[in-house]
Amino acid sequence: MAKYLITGIAGFIGSSLARAVLAQGDQVRGVDNLSTGKLENLDDISGRIDFQRADILDLAAMQTACRGVDYVLHQAAVPSVPRSVLDPMENNRSNLDGTLTLLLAARDAGVKRVVFAASSSVYGDTPVLPKREDMPPRPVSPYAVAKLASEYYMTSFYRCYGLETVCLRYFNIFGPRQDPSSPYSGVLAKFITQMLRGETPTIFGDGKQSRDFTYIENAVAANLLACHAPANLVVGGVFNIATGKRTDLNEAFQILKRLTGFSGNAEYGPERAGDVKHSLADITRARECLGYAPTVQFEEGLRLTLEWYRGNASIPKASQTSKIPEIVSSNS
Ligand code: NAD
Ligand code: UD1
Repeated sequence: MAKYLITGIAGFIGSSLARAVLAQGDQVRGVDNLSTGKLENLDDISGRIDFQRADILDLAAMQTACRGVDYVLHQAAVPSVPRSVLDPMENNRSNLDGTLTLLLAARDAGVKRVVFAASSSVYGDTPVLPKREDMPPRPVSPYAVAKLASEYYMTSFYRCYGLETVCLRYFNIFGPRQDPSSPYSGVLAKFITQMLRGETPTIFGDGKQSRDFTYIENAVAANLLACHAPANLVVGGVFNIATGKRTDLNEAFQILKRLTGFSGNAEYGPERAGDVKHSLADITRARECLGYAPTVQFEEGLRLTLEWYRGNASIPKASQTSKIPEIVSSNS
């Protein structure tokens, strides 16, 4: 039985990973400072995991957390582009210093492999589609800079200390438990909860911006594959985790109308400053090296997500505000 440490375990992706690791019969330890995550996300598994409330910046706590651990799934971060623009120091602490602290602890504890939640935001607004891992990154937001620098630390720890590392560049992950309640929340979590309440969603801009929206189960599968894929193919590497298809926001809204029965129209607001226009991944490298293949496509993922929100009456209200800081550049 292997032991996994999941950082950011009380978050959307971390808590989904915890369930999947338990389901394959392995042990889970988790750390979280509960800054954006919630203990409710762990309610159904709280008796089966070793949860430690701790900040990843606390080296002593991370040393304790890494003791006896085989694999680390590093998800803890402040996961928002606009919030990083508002507070770049907070972003740098959690999203870069936190990664370095964790890597030091993992190295010293003799962890077998660390898998990192990297981000498609490192591509910035390069017009070339689809995004491939060998394209030069063009990070613009502090969030993207910290994610890219974290990737470099991951690779550096492999090359300098032999700690096996794998970086997974997630593209817009969505699914059950994603928090809709902050102005920084992911668009699908917001739209679904708004439409279920009969509230009108706001599309920022013309709605023609597109994303490679990826259902959570695909990201979870990628993490589990990344732990066990042959070292010669994956360690020190970076992989896009997505579906290889994109959907624009107008289309997503129409599909959600059909699935929710919402009868209104969307409102259109000003374009969000710093937005990337289109995002689409080439997932060839993940297919070839990790054996990754997305099994849940966009519409099926939306259906599963809706089902979950419908069954969870206590979900927080989606944030109605679009007051987020302006990013001066046209990239994100
Ligand atoms: P989330 O906010 O639900 O989860 C992040 C978790 O990390 C939260 O539980 C939070 O409390 C915890 N955390 C934050 N700072 C911490 C710290 N200093 N110490 C300990 N815990 C801390 O967000 P998520 O969507 O589940 O994101 C998980 C990871 O995936 C993040 O690293 C994020 O940047 C990355 N990511 C997410 C997406 C997406 O579309 N959701 C896309 C690309 C990358
Ligand atoms: C998301 C992630 C980020 C990740 C990045 C790359 C979230 C909150 N952010 O950023 O962590 O690194 O993907 O994978 O999951 N929009 C609206 N109306 C709304 C909210 C958003 O029209 O109410 C639009 C935005 O302007 C944007 C699109 O929807 O064009 C997607 O926005 P969002 O869900 O915040 O994700 P990204 O910015 O793409």
